[in-house]
Amino acid sequence: MAAGKGTRLKSKHPKVLHEIGGKPILAHVIATAQKVVPAQDIFVIIGHEAERVREAVAGTSVNFVLQAAQRGTGHALMVAREALFGSGSGNGKKSKYDQVIVLSGDAPLITSETIRKLSAFHTAQKATMALLTADLDDPYGYGRVIRKGGRVDVQAIVEEKSATSQQKKIREINSGFYAFDAPALYEHIDRLSTENAHGEYYLTDMAGVFHRAHKKVVAIKTSDAGEVLGSNTRTEMMVLDARLRLAKCRELLEQGVTIFYPHTCVIDSDVEVAADTVIEPFVQLLGSTKIGADCRIRSYSVIGNSVIGDRVTVKPGTIMEDSRVSAGAVLGPYSHLRPGTEVGEGAHVGNFVETKKIKLGKGSKANHLSYLGDAEIGEGVNIGAGTITCNYDGVNKHKTVIEDGVFIGSDSTLVAPVKIGRGAYVAAASCITEDVPADALALGRARQSVKEGWARAKREAQKETRR
Ligand code: UD1
Ligand code: CA
Repeated sequence: MAAGKGTRLKSKHPKVLHEIGGKPILAHVIATAQKVVPAQDIFVIIGHEAERVREAVAGTSVNFVLQAAQRGTGHALMVAREALFGSGSGNGKKSKYDQVIVLSGDAPLITSETIRKLSAFHTAQKATMALLTADLDDPYGYGRVIRKGGRVDVQAIVEEKSATSQQKKIREINSGFYAFDAPALYEHIDRLSTENAHGEYYLTDMAGVFHRAHKKVVAIKTSDAGEVLGSNTRTEMMVLDARLRLAKCRELLEQGVTIFYPHTCVIDSDVEVAADTVIEPFVQLLGSTKIGADCRIRSYSVIGNSVIGDRVTVKPGTIMEDSRVSAGAVLGPYSHLRPGTEVGEGAHVGNFVETKKIKLGKGSKANHLSYLGDAEIGEGVNIGAGTITCNYDGVNKHKTVIEDGVFIGSDSTLVAPVKIGRGAYVAAASCITEDVPADALALGRARQSVKEGWARAKREAQKETRR
């Protein structure tokens, strides 16, 4: 169920697209569901901002059901009737599925083991409805589970707004995860009504409906209450995000990664890091970033959707997006690798060097204060401090080619399109506008002239006027 608006977030974005652990809440739930059943058996109920939600998880090949008006969780399942059950239900037509498992699209920490347990419990108990519950210290806001005298059987679920003060004291809450007997669900779902505090069709009321119809409703309690927490408010999201990221750090620690002060690091769910890499405090590793073994990622570096090989050193304050870095390279401090940067084996990118869409060959160095954009730079190249590739003429981007073994003197400007041939030298402070052949020296600057005694004469002239 992912059709709700998420009013309590006070956001223009649909609730299930808010991110936890660096990806939409709904994407977590779908990924977990896919560990239990194939994508073609997953139906995502969308409604509020349906197209945006659909687009955000389109890569997963799950099915979508549109709940155009969101009239409650019970209504969401009514709308899914045809997709799950086939049309003409109740007329003796066979259901497509025996069991329907309902997941809450806003509870991203649920595990596949727990979903499997719920499903197996439903089957073993031969129940019509099984619900997953948890004991919470603060059950406020959740539906409370009314058991039949402490047994597995459930009489009803009471929502916060409708609960009596006595019922509000119950700490066992409804997690919003259920397993239903599919034919029974659709035989009885029309008995739901909107006569409640919200004027909605509550799926939770199916417990009472089945109970009255003498059908078996059972509850299974999870031992880890943390995994059923919902994300109705920003505060709840903050708690889930912190939990998920700390769990991610623990997972990496298990795999042999060292992380100092993990609670200061922001590491997204899908990030991979190999053993013996050290992550210093205040590092962000985002999106699909992959980091090899024996690296050191120093403080304040922000690395997004990038691939880093083994034995790479990333010094403090390095920012990197959509880039690839080969083994043994050294980056930073304060390098800015923009999308399309490829740093070769053992290459160096130093402080205040900005790169974009470049290849920097094996062992090449750009150590200080440069802009390198749209460039192909060979192996063993030395880019002097302050070198700029002038890649943009105000309308189009042009390419700079620097072949193997080239030496670019400090403060050079390379006006693209331009090519510096293998082994050539560019003298410091040159403005290079034409190609330089291999092994040549190019000077592109005014010749220095010296006026002997000029300064002394000026000072003396000034003294004269003051008198
Ligand atoms: C629901 C349960 C509550 C339980 C809690 C657990 C009901 C009535 N209450 O409350 O007992 O303790 O979950 O987290 O079910 N949705 C739709 N269509 C709708 C309405 C909601 O798809 O018309 C989706 C929402 O996007 C959300 C999920 O269903 O992903 C749950 O809805 P939400 O409004 O968050 O229910 P809660 O108030 O949390
Ligand atoms: Ca919720």
